[in-house]
Amino acid sequence: MEGIIGIEIDIETIDGKWKVSQNRPLADRQASPKASGRSILRNGGSGRTGASLQQITKDRAGTEEDMIIAIDGPAAAGKGTLARRIAETYGFHHLDTGLTYRATAKALLDAGLPLDDETIAEGMARKVDLAGLDRTILSRHEIGEAASKIAVMPAVRRALVEAQRRFAEKKPGAVLDGRDIGTVVCPDAPVKLYVTASAEVRAQRRYEEIVDAGGSADYDAIFEDVKRRDERDMGRTDSPLKPAEDAYLLDTSEMSIEAAFQKAKSIVDAALSRNA
Ligand code: DC
Repeated sequence: MEGIIGIEIDIETIDGKWKVSQNRPLADRQASPKASGRSILRNGGSGRTGASLQQITKDRAGTEEDMIIAIDGPAAAGKGTLARRIAETYGFHHLDTGLTYRATAKALLDAGLPLDDETIAEGMARKVDLAGLDRTILSRHEIGEAASKIAVMPAVRRALVEAQRRFAEKKPGAVLDGRDIGTVVCPDAPVKLYVTASAEVRAQRRYEEIVDAGGSADYDAIFEDVKRRDERDMGRTDSPLKPAEDAYLLDTSEMSIEAAFQKAKSIVDAALSRNA
């Protein structure tokens, strides 16, 4: 299957191909207990203060506390596109946390080191430079495969989560996308989105992108690949992919990119306006 797909083309670069719109919140954010991004970091990601979002965003106004937007979802759901656009719109920093796993895997591959030694992989994870992540190189399919192997290792995850939390402190705000941002990395982020779409739709988008780029693709193989990734991401013991209880669910199966962005923007605007 890898041979057929050849290289992994990131579906999230697709423009203007999604359809109609649909969304539903998983929970009412205003009723959800929150803590500020900075106290998350102090608590190592485990504590919640029980304060309301309104209270928190008020507390954050005009202080050193800055906005954190957590975006999670399965592969090829469009979360990267949304994350980049939100970051651009608000002038926030953006981190695709998948690239941190990919960079660790690439460094191991380049050094001829094994992918199944947790201590070695953790050492490499601690050396990853978040400022030097090159998406073009790291998006290669074989790097994604290697990344998914080391992403199940708790020591690797701990090392990368530490770096990701430091990134989340950046001013004036940060958008992080991945699989465990709302649940583990920044569990108290004031804005959490869970961006998803059916496996069929995600496979179709990936298929169209490859074909549109002049490549040849096998829809069934891509569909199987998407399902296999879902199983791996959702089935692992450490930090499995799942929506945070208080995340907004954005199902983009029948939604245009623009509609998804506008919905996400309205959620971010609402959180920011509570600062006023
Ligand atoms: O989103 P991606 O394909 O670039 O992710 C690469 C791998 O890293 C994939 O196996 C999922 C994993 N990952 C993770 O475990 N946690 C994250 N926050 C981001 C990615």
